[in-house]
Amino acid sequence: MSSILAIHGGTPLRTTPFPAWPRWDESDVEAVAAVVRSGCWGRLSGSRVAAFEREFAAFQGAQYGLAVVSGSVALRLALLAVGVQAGDEVIVPPYTFMATATSVIEANAVPIFVDIDPDTYCLDPAAFAAAITPRTRAVIPVHLGGQAADMDRICAVAARHGIAVIEDAAHAHGGTYRGRGLGAIGDLGCFSFQASKNLNSGEGGAILTNSEDLEDRCRALHHCGHRKGGQRFEHPVFGGNYRLGEFQGALLLNQLQRLRAQTETRNANGLYLNAKLAAVPGLRPLARGRGETLHPYHLYVFRYDTEAWGAPRSRFVAALRAEGIPASEGYTVPLYRQGLFTQKAFGPYTGYQQTRPDLDYAATDCPVCERVCAKEGCWLPQSLLLGSREDMDDVVAAVTKLSERRGEL
Ligand SMILES: Cc1ncc(COP(=O)(O)O)c(C=O)c1O
Repeated sequence: MSSILAIHGGTPLRTTPFPAWPRWDESDVEAVAAVVRSGCWGRLSGSRVAAFEREFAAFQGAQYGLAVVSGSVALRLALLAVGVQAGDEVIVPPYTFMATATSVIEANAVPIFVDIDPDTYCLDPAAFAAAITPRTRAVIPVHLGGQAADMDRICAVAARHGIAVIEDAAHAHGGTYRGRGLGAIGDLGCFSFQASKNLNSGEGGAILTNSEDLEDRCRALHHCGHRKGGQRFEHPVFGGNYRLGEFQGALLLNQLQRLRAQTETRNANGLYLNAKLAAVPGLRPLARGRGETLHPYHLYVFRYDTEAWGAPRSRFVAALRAEGIPASEGYTVPLYRQGLFTQKAFGPYTGYQQTRPDLDYAATDCPVCERVCAKEGCWLPQSLLLGSREDMDDVVAAVTKLSERRGEL
């Protein structure tokens, strides 16, 4: 092993790539080609999207599934389905992709940011409880990187206050919490099938629920306000066209066959990395044992202690990348600090003016999220965790190499 850090011109610890994403073979090509040949390319004439909805719902343990065009749209339709009105407040964590909060704006409601738990990086149930007002209509816990949010406490608080729980399960395909599928625990669960996700068709999304009424509402919302059993051009309720196409349905059906084995591989590799990285001074994996029974690790997230290492996180991550490990700093800004929120640049969505004209996002302060974004959080991508034990050992060896030479960072 080169004793010189790769960032200083030494030989990288690893030069071969980790597993590529997406994974596919001729069966995926054939599945899509079969749709081309069938001539039934839209969901209204085909059968793949409907079959995928049934299979994916069953896979996650929900009664009903609805495919839509993206995870962002899934969240927005879920909010409309639970009856969010202009100016209602919806509680969200600030450590997430912007769609968790912009879906609230697109529902003409008001995102209220509350802090994350330092051990899981998911919504802090106590902070959620403290932020509830008479205007709170829904909460969107995010299963960050596949780490299950504290659904027991979140659902208990929500039930006491009559607040809808919409799980953002965009990172959580295949994951379970106390044996139950993530996205099938709250009132509604929203998934993304965008290209980076653990189950993907390039773009796409889904909503799961155990409520026939909510399923009915979501279905109408995604299909131009058309109700099951209605006449062809009858539109009794509001809706748009958010239907997924058959090409994606076919690809998802085929990809779903691999999801369980891939999830188990990531879960096992995540546990292995946890054990190894916990032994490196100044690194702490996120906590396990908070109810997650199968962790899908859309991201492998660990905590970096800037003071212990004596170097900024950006330097550590750059050095790790130079060694051939595709680490990243993840989200570096709490969502409420984005210009979208500080400027309230919400375009035509002015619902907040009805109830919260005073709201100043620049005054929001979530200290855990601030620290995680500024200097603590580090990510490895899900595809890396599909690798072999030797691949994981390379990650550990690279981190150990940096640790032993931390003074040179
Ligand atoms: C946590 C989270 N929620 C929602 C979304 C939105 O999904 P989509 O990109 O399919 O709209 C994403 C996508 O990256 C996400 O990471």
